[in-house]
Parts: sequence; C-alpha cells; structure tokens
Amino acid sequence: MAASSSQLLFFFLLLLPLAINGADFITLKCEANFTGNAILQGNINTLLLDLEAKTSARGFANSSRGAGNDTVYGISECREDATAEKCAACMAEAVLQAYTSCPNSAESYVWHHSCFLRYANREFFGQADSGRVGAWSSTVKAADPPTFARAVVELLDVVGIEASYGEYRKFGWGELDTGRSYHVPKLYGMAECTWDLRQQACINCLLDAYKLFREDCGDRVGCVVMTKSCSLRFDVDAFLFLNGRSSPASSVTAGHL
Ligand SMILES: *[C@@H]1O[C@H](CO)[C@@H](O)[C@H](O)[C@H]1NC(C)=O
Ligand SMILES: *[C@@H]1O[C@H](CO)[C@@H](O)[C@H](O)[C@H]1NC(C)=O
Ligand SMILES: *[C@@H]1O[C@H](CO)[C@@H](O)[C@H](O)[C@H]1NC(C)=O
Repeated sequence: MAASSSQLLFFFLLLLPLAINGADFITLKCEANFTGNAILQGNINTLLLDLEAKTSARGFANSSRGAGNDTVYGISECREDATAEKCAACMAEAVLQAYTSCPNSAESYVWHHSCFLRYANREFFGQADSGRVGAWSSTVKAADPPTFARAVVELLDVVGIEASYGEYRKFGWGELDTGRSYHVPKLYGMAECTWDLRQQACINCLLDAYKLFREDCGDRVGCVVMTKSCSLRFDVDAFLFLNGRSSPASSVTAGHL
C-alpha cells in the first residue's frame, strides 16, 4: 500500500515551516500523555538538555533523570555521516521539538534525517521496539516495480547486516550499481539501529521495519521507514554525506563510515 496523496500532502504541510529553517526533520510521535505532574515534566526537561549537551561529543548519548516512578530515560544519536556541527544543530532542534510538540508526553520519538531522539518514563535501553513512528516515500514510481523491488531487497540485506555489526554505532550503507538495468544507474541504501541494541535485536528490528517498508513504500523509487529503534532507507538519489568517499564500481558495496 503506497502512501496516499492526502498523506503526502499532510507531510508537505508538516515539513514546510521546518524546511524553511534548513532543518531535516521527518516525523515525531508523542505517547503516554499525562497531566499535572510537574516533577515528571521537570525530569523530562532536564533529561532533554542533558542529551543535547552530551550528544555532540560522541554523536550518541543516553541519560536518565529522576527517581521512583518519575524516572525518565533517554537516548540520542546522530547519523554516522553527520558532522559534529550538523549533529549539534540537529539535536538542538530535536530537543526543542520534543519540548514544544510533546509537552505532556511521558514518551516521545523525534526523527530527523541526521539525528534521532527518544525518551520514556520506563527503562528501554537494549530493547528493540519496531513500533512504527513514520514513513516517507518519493512520489516517483519505479519503471519496473518487480525488478526494482529485487534490487532494493538485495541492497537492504547487505546494509542491514552491516548495520547490525556496528559496535557502538549501528549504521550500514551501500550502493548498488545497477548498470541501468532498473532504469536508474544507482540505488543507495541505509540501515540504522539505535546504538544501545545488540546485533540480533538490531536485525529483528530491521526485519520488522522491512515489513513496514513493503506497506509504506509501494512501488516508489525512494522511501524511508522509521520505527522506535531502527530505520531503513533507499533512494535512487544519493542522500548520505560521505565526504567524497566513493565505493568501487562493483555490484553491491557497503560499509561502516
Ligand atoms: C546508559 O546506558 C547504559 C547501558 O547501555 C547504562 O549502564 C547506563 O547507566 C546509562 N546511563 C545513564 C546516565 O542512564
Ligand atoms: C508514583 O509513586 C507514588 C508513590 O509511590 C504514587 O503515589 C503515585 O501514584 C505514583 N504515580 C504513578 C503515575 O504511578
Ligand atoms: C498526546 O499528546 C500529543 C501532543 O500533545 C497529541 O498529538 C496526541 O494526540 C496525544 N495522544 C493521545 C492518545 O491523547
């Protein structure tokens, strides 16, 4: 099932004000809404600021604040190809969005192309959660959907495995040189799990994300699916900032940055 045009329009409206600011926000989700708990809200606010302060140093961070049932846990990371500057700017914006868009939520998720932020009032480190947060797909349809879909699977298999191997950063990318057999010269792919996941948890999350992929992306030439713990993306246009790093002209190339 492809994203309907009304969904795409909604996305455009959502994206527009932020795009003007040069941000690369994609989607967010606010859950576990509460009212009248100033202590919990205070813990969330200080947690967000702590994550923002910590993330730029290593590109990823976790944090917890509070005590008893008002304890909150958070995790953050930047996409592995984001520069320190881009990472810091992205995280500042994600924190602001969590703060302003999810004012009374004990749990939220903010996905940008370049960074991700998640917090909850329950401990979740190391646990994969493939709950859908959002998806975005290109409006362009593939010329030969069945063949194109096979190329996508081939590429995503490789980048998914690559991502799961990461020790601290669970990020894999690759390019498939199609030799124009799919009416496009190249296909680019990326898989990402939050850094707290172990290898098998990451693979399980990506497999679930791939199922969403088939529902959300239809026959489009580009798509990204975001869950609570992982993300998958492919596109016929290059979207990573590899700083001149190019892959040899073999069939599938993949790697960690
Ligand atoms: C960060 O996560 C690790 C487990 O991956 C945990 O041991 C540590 O206590 C966490 N740090 C904070 C500040 O929550
Ligand atoms: C949190 O714990 C306190 C004291 O143990 C209790 O009174 C309160 O109802 C709890 N709040 C929630 C949301 O469970
Ligand atoms: C929780 O709060 C968010 C943001 O204020 C809102 O968009 C969402 O619909 C709320 N969810 C529920 C179940 O009320």
